Amino acid sequence: MSVDPQGWAQFGHVKMPDYRWGIFLNPAEQDRKIHFGDHKGEGAWQDVPGEHRANLRRIIVTQGDTEPASVEQQRHLGLTCPSQYDLRNLFQVNVEEGRHLWAMVYLLHRYFGRDGREEAEALLERRSGNADNPRILQAFNEKTPDWLAFFMFTYSTDRDGKFQLCALAESSFDPLARTTKFMLTEEAHHMFVGESGVSRVIQRTVDAMNQLKTDDVGKLRAAGVIDLPTIQRYINFHFSVTIDLFGADQSSNAATFYSSGLKGRYEEGKRTDDHAQGQNYKILEVANGQLQGKEVPMLNALNEVLRDDYITDSKGGVERWNRVIEKAGIPFKLTVPHKAFHRNIGTLSGVKVSPDGRVVSDHEWNQKVEQWLPSDEDRAYVASLMGRVTEAGKFANWIAPPVIGINRQPIDFEYVRFN
Ligand SMILES: [Fe+2]
Ligand SMILES: [Fe+2]
Repeated sequence: MSVDPQGWAQFGHVKMPDYRWGIFLNPAEQDRKIHFGDHKGEGAWQDVPGEHRANLRRIIVTQGDTEPASVEQQRHLGLTCPSQYDLRNLFQVNVEEGRHLWAMVYLLHRYFGRDGREEAEALLERRSGNADNPRILQAFNEKTPDWLAFFMFTYSTDRDGKFQLCALAESSFDPLARTTKFMLTEEAHHMFVGESGVSRVIQRTVDAMNQLKTDDVGKLRAAGVIDLPTIQRYINFHFSVTIDLFGADQSSNAATFYSSGLKGRYEEGKRTDDHAQGQNYKILEVANGQLQGKEVPMLNALNEVLRDDYITDSKGGVERWNRVIEKAGIPFKLTVPHKAFHRNIGTLSGVKVSPDGRVVSDHEWNQKVEQWLPSDEDRAYVASLMGRVTEAGKFANWIAPPVIGINRQPIDFEYVRFN
């Protein structure tokens, strides 16, 4: 209903057809000034300057396109929910992603005239994974086939959303900055769903490992839980596909977007390094069969800067997952793969690198890829676990209940009413 917590943190039951999407903008900051790039010190734009129109439209369309894409990827998961609690979380993520589309479409309609309206229509026509009219970014054309993939997606890919939105929240185009600032409050919940979801899967697995006193994958699968190596392979997949979303490590577009004030760096306002001018930044390349750092002008490496900030942020949750394993007394550690692993964009695309950062031959890659990325067999096993649990307070066998219910309701609260 509004951008203050009393407005957006509403927990009552709403019938699907009665749900309404709002246009939410953070309150305007009086006399907001542009705080980076060539226009630094000038007043923030309340309208779109002609010379930046095409780039701004592109940025908004690219962001907007990811929002309905994730709904298309995830909506079928309602049929295989592991509990009412999880089903309710899925619904919330989906309606908010739908609202994020609406937030971007509002900007297109309000500020970009006829071009904007046409772009908005095209957003409704593209479909995730469609061969003829796919979504713009590849991670949003991948399948989210099961709930483990959903939790990994909300942990990893919604975090990409967070970083893109943070960069846009710095924008000189004030309506975009205000819109994305509010979207960030919702993104935080999506990442929570992912992190706590994976954590509960791990909890259930380590409990079973201790109960059965085994780390044998076959025995654990016979017991209907997801073995830790499979969880690691899912991390490897989602992490690598997501870091591609930040784009090529060297990009003149990124430099233009920054210099013209359209898109800042993560927490631009807190940085004291004179706004990327005249500085270098280290990117990775392969030389003589080895990965090595290469200094390039920071302005051209801003995608890499954002990717590295993302990677730092991603590691925190994996450490928290490791604490669950550690607490259970099991000697196993989950890791974030090397950033050169399984990349398809930029200098590292096409280079075969192991999760621990060694350049490997095609032969070694082919031999080990099933240890590094989810195999068809892994996917089929996880798929075989996906049933449907809708009785309040009951949970599927492969996932532990949450520590606390939504809005401090009991875990067996009736979160979803079926008619
Ligand atoms: Fe979103
Ligand atoms: Fe999200």
